[in-house]
Amino acid sequence: MAHRRDKEWIEAAAAVRDNAVCTRSGFAVGAALEAEDGKLFTGCNVENSTYGLTVCAERVAVWKALSEGARRFKGIAVVTDAADPTPPCGACRQILWEFAGDIPVVMATIGGARKRMMLSRLFPEPFEF
Ligand code: THU
Repeated sequence: MAHRRDKEWIEAAAAVRDNAVCTRSGFAVGAALEAEDGKLFTGCNVENSTYGLTVCAERVAVWKALSEGARRFKGIAVVTDAADPTPPCGACRQILWEFAGDIPVVMATIGGARKRMMLSRLFPEPFEF
């Protein structure tokens, strides 16, 4: 079921996706993370020549939010141009779980496909320390 803020999250994620630094893979990703006070923190994927130092859109959004002082979050949208909505990678699921907890994850495509699920469903049995 769609929720009130999903459309705004998706639009923000789609807009920042245009800034993706993804000449290596050609796969642009945008993310928008809403903080407790309603502020949206966006991120795109940033690749570099070593490939392995690539940072996903979701983690860029989380790092931006944390470094601006946000600590509690309401949800995240992830937008790609894949045929079907793509969920965050395993590393991003861990980071989202640790810093945002069990938030809704809205996955959308430029073509209009949508999927929404709680992070606990995408990331059951998390490592916590
Ligand atoms: N990527 C993301 O930004 N988020 C994900 O959840 C999955 C993958 C990026 C990393 C890389 O720049 C490109 O997509 C292809 O894997």
